Amino acid sequence: MTAQALIDTAQALVAGDKGLLAMDESNATCHKRFAKLGIPQTEDARRDWRELIVTAPNLGASISGAILFDETIRQRTNSGASFVSVLGGAGIIPGIKVDTGAKPLAGHPGETVTEGLDGLRERLAEYAGMGARFAKWRGVITPGPGLPSRACIEVNAHALARYAALCQEAGLVPIVEPEVLMEGDHSLARCAEITEETLHVVFAQLRLQGVLLEGMLLKPNMVLPGQDCPKQEGVEEVADATVSCLRRTVPAAVPGIAFLSGGQSAQLASARLNAMNARAGSRLPWALAFSYSRAVQQPALDAWKGDAANVAVAQQALVHRARCNQAARRGAYDA
Ligand code: 13P
Repeated sequence: MTAQALIDTAQALVAGDKGLLAMDESNATCHKRFAKLGIPQTEDARRDWRELIVTAPNLGASISGAILFDETIRQRTNSGASFVSVLGGAGIIPGIKVDTGAKPLAGHPGETVTEGLDGLRERLAEYAGMGARFAKWRGVITPGPGLPSRACIEVNAHALARYAALCQEAGLVPIVEPEVLMEGDHSLARCAEITEETLHVVFAQLRLQGVLLEGMLLKPNMVLPGQDCPKQEGVEEVADATVSCLRRTVPAAVPGIAFLSGGQSAQLASARLNAMNARAGSRLPWALAFSYSRAVQQPALDAWKGDAANVAVAQQALVHRARCNQAARRGAYDA
């Protein structure tokens, strides 16, 4: 696999005005969302939900790539086509989440380290053989009184960089996802400080491990006030704080930044991305795109409710949110 192939895939994922769809929830996370709507927490229901997503009409007009979970990359539609081939037919590049989850970090109560490096080389080879062309790994940084610790930031950055190097060796574009959580009562300024420090450490580790910046994507949080912070800044302040943090930390060689939604409403996630592109987009070295799960899926899941009679209306809701975020990439989203 040549460096040029990695660069081509990374650029294709953020080309034009499309973005990524994250559909890589673990079974536990998927079940939590199903339980709230009374949907059975079974493998069949998970498969039905993922089939609804990958077969949504015209999804490929706004979505460049989809991030799958280990179970999902092995699944097929009712008519027997593999999800990977259905995505390929829609012009959507298949990707795979390869971390094995955030586990408690020894000696650091309230903090986690993301696991999954053991055996990763072999798993990446298997996924590449199944058609995956990119991968994702999420490290979690938790703000709080006295948190995050430098130890937490460093272990997660180190793991992200080792994962990214292994991905590129296997010919997969790594999506590097350090997420500063929005849960808590911290201010926007504190989120900016933590995100800036985290991204500095992440890019230092990527350099140490020899990761090709042109052949990767960054998936960060936006710079937001904690959801319980009494002061909630407006869309434009969030957009400016996020862009300023990224300009300080993300090398111009990185082709694209695809945000996670992190628990923001679907509308806010679109409006904030829109404001960033409208206010600064043409002056930035990287594309500002999206890689949302909840902010694209949740309205569709609410419409589906596990009922086959609702599939078409749920697919319309899904494609609507994807198109809203596509408009936000151009600074043309109208809430
Ligand atoms: P959210 O957009 O729901 O935060 O999910 C994105 C993701 O992939 C989390 O790892």
